[in-house]
Parts: sequence; C-alpha cells; structure tokens
Amino acid sequence: MKLPSRVKLVEVGPRDGLQNEKQPVPASVKIELVHRLQAAGVKEIEVTSFVSPKWVPQMADNAEVMAGIARLSGVRYSVLTPNLQGFEAALKSKPDEIVVFGAASEAFSQKNINCSIAQSMERFAPVVQAARAAGIYVRGAMSCAVGCPYQGEVSPESVSYLAALMKGIGVQHIGVADTIGVGTPLKIQRAIEATLQHFDLNDISGHFHDTYGQALANTLAALQLGIWQFDTSVAGLGGCPYAKGATGNVATEDVVYLLQGMGIDTGIDLEKLVDAGQFISDFLQRKPNSRAATALLNKRMN
Ligand code: HMG
Ligand code: MG
Repeated sequence: MKLPSRVKLVEVGPRDGLQNEKQPVPASVKIELVHRLQAAGVKEIEVTSFVSPKWVPQMADNAEVMAGIARLSGVRYSVLTPNLQGFEAALKSKPDEIVVFGAASEAFSQKNINCSIAQSMERFAPVVQAARAAGIYVRGAMSCAVGCPYQGEVSPESVSYLAALMKGIGVQHIGVADTIGVGTPLKIQRAIEATLQHFDLNDISGHFHDTYGQALANTLAALQLGIWQFDTSVAGLGGCPYAKGATGNVATEDVVYLLQGMGIDTGIDLEKLVDAGQFISDFLQRKPNSRAATALLNKRMN
C-alpha cells in the first residue's frame, strides 16, 4: 500500500450538492455556505455552474454567487462550463479553475449535455484553449466511469477512450466520477487504472456518489492506488438532475474523519466543517447525510 501523506479535497457541495435541490436556495445562502466552508479550512470549492438555466434552474444565480463571495487567498474557486457560452459568462466571475464535463457513456452524454461524446469534445476544445490562454486551470470530469443510469455497466476501455480524448484537447486534470454511486472498490480501481493510461497519478481525482453506500470504501480503494485528490460534498448533499435516484457525493465530514483516523492531513477543521454542514442542512430542513457529522452532533448534545 502506498497511501498518500496528504489529501486535497475539492468541496463540491455548493455546486453538485445544491444543483439538484427542488426548493429554491437563495444566492445569499449559497454564499454563506461557501464562507463557512472556507472558514473550516477548505481550500478548493466548486462554487457553481454556467449551464443553461432552463436545464438546471438552481444554478441560474451563478454570477451573483461568484460575485458575493469574499475570497480568501489560498482558496481556489472552480465552476462548471459546458461550452463557450458558459465559459464566456464564467470569465467575468474570474474563476481559478473551470470544469468541462463529459461522460464515458454515450447515453448519459446525450441526456446530460445534449450531445454525443465526440460532439462534446468539439464543444470543449475551444473552451479548454480559451481557458488556458487566460491562465485558468482546466479540469475535466468523466461521468459514469463505472456505471450509467441508461446503459448499465461501463467498461474501463470506455473510460480510457474518454480520458485520451480529454488529454488530447488539453485538459490538465481529470476526475473519475461514479455519477450514480454504483461502483465498488475493484471496479473503481479498474476505472482509475484506465485513466492512468493517459493522465499522471497527480492529475487524477476521485468523485464518488454514495447511492449504494460504497463511496468511502471506493475512496480507500483509490487511496491505495496513490490517488490523493477527491471531490466531496458537505453533509453529503447532492446528485445530478440527469441521474435519477442517484444521491449525493460522499460526505466531506466522513472523508475528513476517515483521513484523520489514518493520519492523513487535509487541513480541514472537522468541527467547523460539521457546523457548515449543519448550516445548510438546517436551511434545507433535513439532517446532514453524514454518519460522522451525525455522531459528532450527537456527542455535542451529551
Ligand atoms: P443545448 O440545448 O444543446 O445548447 O444545451 P444550445 O447551444 O443548442 O443552446 C440552446 C439554448 O441554451 C440557448 O438558449 C442558449 O442560449 C442556451 P435559447 O436561445 O433557447 O434561449 N445555452 C446556455 N445558457 C446558459 N449557459 C450556457 C448555455 N449554453 C446554451 N452555458 C447545455 C447544452 C450543455 C447548455 C445543456 O445541455 C445544459 O445546460 N445541461 C446541463 C448539464 C448539467 O449542468 N448537468 C449537471 C452537472 S454535471 C454533473 O453533475 C456530473 C458531475 O458531478 C460528475 C459526476 O458526478 O458524474 C460533474
Ligand atoms: Mg457528481
């Protein structure tokens, strides 16, 4: 086992977490969530997405949210940009990083971004080029890297194919995403190994939804391959509107607890993180979807 000594977590709660919420979440609440996350020591925050407001109404306030954040030095703020229109809108918000998101399954690509995998590359290529010319770091996401809600199992070969395309258009970092949380540790390792054919270990992250309760195990499996970057969502918020039934990402609190217990540094203050999770959960009128947060909140009451 070559476990990393430190781990970088990208907090995706404000974007992946809230994009799927039916009830309106005001920009002020999203901004407050970002403020609380950065106060907890989170250094990477995926804030919002510049997608069509007809497709994802919850992210329509993207520019307002970005403008309202009191940025901290040392914290990086990323946004999703599916095409040049989104990138140009995002540019005004001065993101540190943009994310182009493709899928390892044709069916999901069509449902999520309304085009084939090949067409998505034609859309992403000028976005990547423009971002890099502007000095903005480019991350790619590979949805459905182990399973698709429309096509079923997704092979490592499909992941390798997509990773090669992403590399070819100049994407600098790639996320292996289990969009619907069906993956189990060995399948996740196969998807990561397929990605390693095209990207360096230091340029790959894991993005695991927790629908079947496997995301922590999958995180450990990725760590065992040396992966040290993960997307996580405070209070386990989230899901994708085009992946019905899929629940949120692995809860940031659970991953921080896991890593702390293994002596791996994240720079995050778990108690303050739990506060941030409670803040947004209170707003949404539900309990945090995190076992570690629940345990720590119960402990505070005793
Ligand atoms: P389209 O309909 O093919 O785009 O949508 P189009 O270029 O034909 O334009 C049609 C209309 O959309 C036009 O407006 C454009 O102006 C508008 P109209 O003339 O009809 O009024 N439009 C836009 N508006 C705002 N921002 C834009 C934009 N682009 C076009 N950027 C599009 C293509 C990608 C835009 C659409 O399919 C879309 O917005 N999809 C949403 C995808 C999404 O946000 N999914 C959730 C995030 S991905 C995810 O959660 C997975 C991830 O977490 C990893 C994982 O877990 O797998 C990342
Ligand atoms: Mg996701």
